[in-house]
Amino acid sequence: MNAVSVSAPGKLHLAGEHAVVYGKPAIVVSTSLRLSITLEKSGKGMLLAECRKHDAYVDAIVRVFEKKYGLTVAKDIDIGIHSAIPSGSGMGSSAALAVACIGALCVWHGFPWNVQTINDMAYQAEKTKHNTSSGSDPAIATHGGILWYRKELEFLKTLWLLPFKVPKTFAPFVLINTGRAESTGELVSYVGEEKKRNERTFAVLLHEIEEVTKRVAQSIHDENEQDFRDAVKTNEALLERMGVVSTRAKDCIRDIEKAGGVAKISGAGGRVEGSGVIIAIHDIPRRLVKIAKSHGFPSFQVILGGEGVKMEQVRT
Ligand code: PMV
Repeated sequence: MNAVSVSAPGKLHLAGEHAVVYGKPAIVVSTSLRLSITLEKSGKGMLLAECRKHDAYVDAIVRVFEKKYGLTVAKDIDIGIHSAIPSGSGMGSSAALAVACIGALCVWHGFPWNVQTINDMAYQAEKTKHNTSSGSDPAIATHGGILWYRKELEFLKTLWLLPFKVPKTFAPFVLINTGRAESTGELVSYVGEEKKRNERTFAVLLHEIEEVTKRVAQSIHDENEQDFRDAVKTNEALLERMGVVSTRAKDCIRDIEKAGGVAKISGAGGRVEGSGVIIAIHDIPRRLVKIAKSHGFPSFQVILGGEGVKMEQVRT
């Protein structure tokens, strides 16, 4: 093998983040922003062996692969990582890295292209980052589209590829990147501690998130934008009750609501500074760009529902 390129998409959580760690459903959608991994025998780029020394996560991903197949990855392979997914902002960059890297290693070693196996290995790698991972991020990076995802038990994860798209008639989402100081693991642990302290309150909260997640699925299915927006607003309020939205992010979201729009965080959120990426919706999207700017946050748009893990190039 001379060169292999594999790419995987980033994602947004439309509903159900955090609750999905406790067996509730989540809706995740892939985006047009992708990360690609190139493995090459050129000797001109960065060696994978070097990359593993500097990046514990890349090392963990390769280790999962080595363990699964009982082999040692050769030391003379170059690795190139190119990503258009903002990192550490809830857009699934680490899952895309694991999925694309595992996919590329499978092709490099001549193993069959099996997306389920790629997903399983990426999930194991993600668990080295935060042990209670629901697996929703690697699942969407692997399969693409829109997924209804649920982790029933550690060995039983159900996913349903929804046979419809976010309707074209819906106003396009504007994504506002509020930045994030904490890791997903830290935020998931925070929620875990709070849940232990207030089991009853959390049971109600998780139930309400499950209901709103169903409303999001129903409204997309029915192409009912008003219901969709109401559900997004409610999901945001529930995430705020959970304590994963920072004051800075809340201030921005309140301004969006005052202007007649809705918005929610997507992914783990953030308590200290920003809360990662915010999905914002308004009849006039450029008003959202203005609001984001007034809070000092960059904004951008993506196409939803990108393809899952994909072999881009194979040179033997
Ligand atoms: O890492 P993020 O920000 O994409 O968040 C992942 C979603 C969580 O529900 C918070 C964690 C999980 O494992 O599902």
